Amino acid sequence: VQEELPSTDIITLTRHVLMDQFRIGAAATGDLTLLLNAIQMTSKFIATNVRKARLINLVGLAGETNVQGEEQKKLDVLSNDIMINSLRASGKTAVLVSEELEEAVIIEDKHKGKYCVVFDPLDGSSNIDAGVNIGTIFGIYQIQPGSKGTISDVLRPGSEMVAAGYTMYGSSANLVLSTGDGVNGYTLDAALGEFILTHPNIRIPSRGKIYSFNEGNSVYYHKPVINYLNSIKYPANGKSPYSARYIGSMVADVHRTLLYGGIFGYPDDKKSKKGKLRLLYEAFPMSYLTEQAGGLATTGRQRVLDIVPTNIHERCPIFLGSKDDVNDLIKAYQDAD
Ligand code: AHG
Ligand code: MN
Ligand code: MN
Ligand code: MN
Repeated sequence: VQEELPSTDIITLTRHVLMDQFRIGAAATGDLTLLLNAIQMTSKFIATNVRKARLINLVGLAGETNVQGEEQKKLDVLSNDIMINSLRASGKTAVLVSEELEEAVIIEDKHKGKYCVVFDPLDGSSNIDAGVNIGTIFGIYQIQPGSKGTISDVLRPGSEMVAAGYTMYGSSANLVLSTGDGVNGYTLDAALGEFILTHPNIRIPSRGKIYSFNEGNSVYYHKPVINYLNSIKYPANGKSPYSARYIGSMVADVHRTLLYGGIFGYPDDKKSKKGKLRLLYEAFPMSYLTEQAGGLATTGRQRVLDIVPTNIHERCPIFLGSKDDVNDLIKAYQDAD
């Protein structure tokens, strides 16, 4: 048996994004490449703090409440500061929207570029202190022609994003990115300090065997969701029921859904009238990635990426994942109407 040697021709995220830039040719100015470089740096910076959090007193509360009424964790605040500083310094951004900041940040002329970044600096805060997977989510718009960068540049449907991605801080740090031409996954080699292409062209299976909902909210759920969940838990004609997996970090639940298939959902219900997850920096980027991987993302009644936001922190119901599974869910909504 011939043993395989380790590859000496690794594809780093920087190399891959540059290859993409050359593929597009003259139209590409390299600005998006530089912006993505700034974003991957923030992921490395956050990842190293996540690893050390327990040791350097970075767990626990920061003492403030954010605009959504959530108590901020120290890592929420730190991650937000890391991203704001790096994105501003990149010189490539005009408008920044963060879960942790009530107002959008309009970048001053000196540092202004043509991109807007909407982000959830630290997703899955409730899992930090237990050492469970957390992440960072981001979406990128280009400012509209003639605009100097205002709030209206980010109050646009998710389908107009030019790129979206997330980094999951788990047993390894994984960055998953789409620039509108499929989805690729990279794993951080901490010794090299580089994200290496490990998951080229991620395609979500057309049907899965896993559902991922916080069923503790069942008592508040509306009929279509209850009917759908019953159909996969008590299937007809001898089919096997679905397995339940719910981490409570959207990044981790969506990452698993992209790789294994199935359906992730956070519905609106009698208590959370608009659902829980935020449209701009949670639902849009994850829907963009899911569609780019061949899956679907819906509110139950509408394609998520078609929603026109009216507020930077608004919420929306979301179901995403394997095409066949999400279509079954959509059918449950149609049947209930
Ligand atoms: P965040 O930590 O950025 O505020 O996001 C929390 C979100 C998301 O990560 C997850 O899918 C969801 O909240 C979990 O909510 P429940 O605890 O209500 O299930
Ligand atoms: Mn939060
Ligand atoms: Mn979040
Ligand atoms: Mn968050």
